[in-house]
Amino acid sequence: MTAPNESSRSDEVQIVACPDGPLLVRGEVPIVTTDGQPVPRRRKTVALCRCGASTIKPYCDGTHKLINFKTEPVLPDGV
Ligand code: FES
Repeated sequence: MTAPNESSRSDEVQIVACPDGPLLVRGEVPIVTTDGQPVPRRRKTVALCRCGASTIKPYCDGTHKLINFKTEPVLPDGV
């Protein structure tokens, strides 16, 4: 049995900053353009580009690997 705030909740929203890669968005979060128009989404988990080189923005297409995109380490306490 799990507590309501544990990661197994089906309605939980989670954003994972992948080292040298995209932001993985898990959960039911609307993705919209800057003027509020919905961006089509077919999966519950999507990868958002943060390298700027994807040809299918806002989604990641794997190009970050080709351009050797590097990120800074994420601080564990959010500082
Ligand atoms: S992060 Fe994957 S293409 Fe930009």
